Amino acid sequence: MVSYKSPFQLGSLSLPNNVFCSALAGCSDLPFRRMTSRYRPGMIFCEMVKMDALIRHDPHTYRILDYETSMHPIGAQLCGSKPKLAGPCAKIIEELGFDVVDLNCGCPVDKVTKDNSGSGLLRYPELIGEILSNMSAAVKIPVTVKIRAGWDENSIIGPLVTEIAEKAGAKAIFVHGRTRSQGYTGPAKWDYITECKKAAKEILVFGNGDVVDHTSAEKMFAQTGCDGVLLSRGTFGAPWLIEDIIRHFQGESVAEKSGLEVRDVFLEHLDHILTYQPERKALLDLRRIGSWYLKAGHGVKKLKEIVAKAEDLEEVAATIRSFDWE
Ligand SMILES: Cc1cc2nc3c(=O)[nH]c(=O)nc-3n(C[C@H](O)[C@H](O)[C@H](O)COP(=O)(O)O)c2cc1C
Repeated sequence: MVSYKSPFQLGSLSLPNNVFCSALAGCSDLPFRRMTSRYRPGMIFCEMVKMDALIRHDPHTYRILDYETSMHPIGAQLCGSKPKLAGPCAKIIEELGFDVVDLNCGCPVDKVTKDNSGSGLLRYPELIGEILSNMSAAVKIPVTVKIRAGWDENSIIGPLVTEIAEKAGAKAIFVHGRTRSQGYTGPAKWDYITECKKAAKEILVFGNGDVVDHTSAEKMFAQTGCDGVLLSRGTFGAPWLIEDIIRHFQGESVAEKSGLEVRDVFLEHLDHILTYQPERKALLDLRRIGSWYLKAGHGVKKLKEIVAKAEDLEEVAATIRSFDWE
């Protein structure tokens, strides 16, 4: 059975392992990636960027692609449906120093799918092939693609897209075991991933959806035969999930984090936000990550309320520090 691998080969690239962290729009920003990269995943991804915005050198889009040397191996993800832009955009990503360039065929949001971008591309599998071929022809770094199983339950095309992607030169396909119409709710159907793995010859297939701890990571490998796992919401408020999974596969014990350990990671994440974001944005980001780090805690209702309504960063950081995390 294929399972955890260290090191792990992706095309010409030698990576630390096959536990990756996905692109997460509005979440996998630079402070988040500082947190995840320190637990040594095989690869991390920036938030997706739109091809149209990248090609016109939109400053906000370039800021999304900010990264630090310590974050390698790092990938960028393109969102768009115009084959003509795909090659030049992939080239920009390569020139920015990224290790991998990925195509988003999974985003379910209406304003993205309306021009056939994101999961909208699942209705035009041949177009996915054309876009990926243009990306592959333009760069030396590995090209990858992230898909959902299909637009809806009646149009499952994961295996077909796997074959198309392989022919177009993609080195890996990340398969989210949900359809577009499922959004993010209900359990992911890992059988969709198994079917993609069966259709793959050379292309590596990563399983994605509901990998939230080392047990589910092990099950994902065992049940689907996938070549690697892609973590998503499981890392929200638990960036150490990566290390837990690695430790488990290396035969080491995995201990639950104590309240104080969670506090320290939360405060470290908050520090990264404070050094990177302007104050107003930092407040919004604090509220978001606060809901993550406090989701599992018992007796944290009061603190949750304070963080959710925070107006003063210094004050709320002091409250987090002085809270009884034991
Ligand atoms: C807030 C949020 C933002 C996301 N942004 C992206 C994105 O930019 N690119 C992408 O390929 N997937 C994105 N996804 C999808 C995830 O990568 C993943 O496929 C999905 O959450 C299923 O995995 P999970 O059940 O482990 O969370 C996003 C998901 C969430 C919840």
